[in-house]
Amino acid sequence: MNVISLVGARPQFIKEAVVNRVIRERSAWKHILVHSGQHYDFNMSGTFFDELGIPQPNYFLGVGSGSHAVQTADAMCKFEEVLIKEKPDMVMLYGDTNTTLAGALDAAKLHIPVAHIEAGPRTYNKLFPEEVNRVLTDHISDLLFACTELNVENLRKEGITEGVYNAGDVMYDLYLKMLPKLDLVKEMRRYGLSEDEYILATIHRDFNTDNAERFTAILKGLNTISKVKGLQILYPMHPRARKKAAEFGLNGLLENLITTEPLGYIELMSLLQNAKYVVTDSGGFQRETYWAQKRSLLIMPQGWQEITDTGWHLLENDPQNMDWVEKTEVLESSMDYPGKIFGDGFAAQKIVDTILKTFN
Ligand code: UD1
Repeated sequence: MNVISLVGARPQFIKEAVVNRVIRERSAWKHILVHSGQHYDFNMSGTFFDELGIPQPNYFLGVGSGSHAVQTADAMCKFEEVLIKEKPDMVMLYGDTNTTLAGALDAAKLHIPVAHIEAGPRTYNKLFPEEVNRVLTDHISDLLFACTELNVENLRKEGITEGVYNAGDVMYDLYLKMLPKLDLVKEMRRYGLSEDEYILATIHRDFNTDNAERFTAILKGLNTISKVKGLQILYPMHPRARKKAAEFGLNGLLENLITTEPLGYIELMSLLQNAKYVVTDSGGFQRETYWAQKRSLLIMPQGWQEITDTGWHLLENDPQNMDWVEKTEVLESSMDYPGKIFGDGFAAQKIVDTILKTFN
């Protein structure tokens, strides 16, 4: 059996790492890895292959940045050529990026079955490009691996019931596997930080960074909580955020923050362990934050409802008008950890088992 995995953006390398390892350990099938090139800077891509031990991709499509149409169409044209040449029995796709959608459309039109990992999250808000990508991908997938029961339920509401499995979250598998490799003290020292005396912020989504007023309010908010609470702010910056801050003349608001290039997986997970709390707009990092039992302020219209419904993470979508200090006080109040939500750490095993069973 011959399976192609298509990845292209940072969170997909993390998800592929754990599934790829299980496939290799079990010699499950001939696995061909294709990198679309949606993310291409070393610290957005290469570093994850190195530190997570992902084999080098068999194909690199060099798609790069561009409008949604340009990026998706370019990935489609180039990935179609690989599918025609390799004739795989199945295509594996992760998450909800433009790379995911491109792969799903290509495979479906060539009548190649699609396995979608992280199927079923919904925001019901088409302003997110990711929502469009994941809804369309789910509707043309044959095997749908959800992370939670709520995701299974979301699929059922759209009439998708066949081939749906609640496998748990492959990112949780990886998180558990990598915990022993974290070096908490080394990473804090690198940035002159002390335990419980810093906030880890990752703000990179287009709805926050590409709107000058919103991005200004977020950076002002981070400065305010730093000053009032006497906490340092560590902000690893996605290249998009870095470019937009410069374009909008906001570099002055970065002066009192500790900004870095995007961090590798081990660096970021190490720094997460001793942070007081987190401010983020990332779908993946809010889950990792939850597993580290840290609370978070989510600056976005919707987060993972499984977490926000418990009150552990606070959802706030009005950075201009919200009281930042008051919100952090809620995060500092005591609360019992709600417990496991994203499976048992064996999602990748279940996914590989299910694919093998389907083909045998
Ligand atoms: C993409 C995903 C998003 C995911 C994020 C993870 C889509 C629609 N969005 O968003 O769901 O959370 O990846 O990071 O697919 N850039 C560089 N170097 C790089 C990559 C990007 O400089 O290696 C800059 C470019 O200016 C580019 C911008 O970042 O235009 C945005 O990159 P893009 O891949 O289009 O979207 P992300 O915001 O990264």
